[in-house]
Amino acid sequence: MQNIKLQRTTAPKEKPNEDKLGFGQIFTDHMYIMDYDEGRGWHDPRIVPYGPLSLDPSAMVFHYAQEMFEGLKAYHTGDGRVLLFRPDRNAQRAENSCKRLCIPPVPQEDFINAIKTVVSVDRDWIPTKPGTSLYIRPFIIATDNHLGVHPSLSYKFLVILSPSGAYYASGLDPVKIWIEDDYVRAVRGGIGEAKAGGNYAASLKAQEKSDAEGYAQVLWLDGVERKYIEEVGSMNIFFKIAGKVVTPKLNGSILPGVTRASCLDLCRHWGLEVEERRISVEELVSAARDGSLDECFGSGTAAVISPVGVLRFGDEVMEISGGGIGPLSQRLYDTVTGIQTGRIEDEFGWTVE
Ligand code: COI
Repeated sequence: MQNIKLQRTTAPKEKPNEDKLGFGQIFTDHMYIMDYDEGRGWHDPRIVPYGPLSLDPSAMVFHYAQEMFEGLKAYHTGDGRVLLFRPDRNAQRAENSCKRLCIPPVPQEDFINAIKTVVSVDRDWIPTKPGTSLYIRPFIIATDNHLGVHPSLSYKFLVILSPSGAYYASGLDPVKIWIEDDYVRAVRGGIGEAKAGGNYAASLKAQEKSDAEGYAQVLWLDGVERKYIEEVGSMNIFFKIAGKVVTPKLNGSILPGVTRASCLDLCRHWGLEVEERRISVEELVSAARDGSLDECFGSGTAAVISPVGVLRFGDEVMEISGGGIGPLSQRLYDTVTGIQTGRIEDEFGWTVE
């Protein structure tokens, strides 16, 4: 295990009001940072006061987006413990993203140790109010000062922390979703299954379009036939159709979400019939028309579960679960957040103290 040096801040910041946290707007006193170069590999892990980085304007991350990130949360339990939710999954996915982007992976045990150490240093920043958590953002950037297009030979790995409120102030709030058949998020063979900043840049234009139409998020279709459902906004998507839980099968362009995997595990554990397969937009429209589309929800780290009340495809506006929160969405939200915060016994071994 690496020996992480600690330089504590001499100017601790005031802790925020837990009623006004929002998401990803406030940062703690410290950050983790480690460097990579060809000769030494990953080296010099340290925790330092949170602050700006100094990078050359030619650093490759600014030009060719050689970058990956992760997202997970730390929670306070009522009895004074701090829990991480399935950090091994983030470490594994980070390694896969690095391989796809030609970034030398951080060894998984160092990745998890970095998170545990910086979270414990800034433990006092973990909010305690119901619905709040400490959002953890690990990321790696290419730092070679060079405009040639090739994998960088130097990198920085950082972990920053942001005390955050519930994604939706009311806990669970049904959203209106715009099904996008013009812009696409990712294609098979591209970087859709990596957690790379570039995927999120590619999503902004369609998000702007759906905002203008009064919709909260975009439902992405596949990039080739524009026919099959992929993801919703920055989340995975689930449907309940004729009693079965259905979600798009991972196909190379869909992000393998940790919350997605947890929802699938829970649904199977509850004895529900679960299908991971291709779902066409036509199937969805006809299920909405004949009344067999019982529920639809997004799953992700930030919102956990995001029920969908309305889906719009062209001129077709489909109301789901009466525009409210379906029972499966509510049960998954309550169970996942219950395990994350220690309110529900973790019989799966998902949480790490
Ligand atoms: C998540 O749902 O956790 C996401 O990936 C959203 C994040 C980019 C803010």
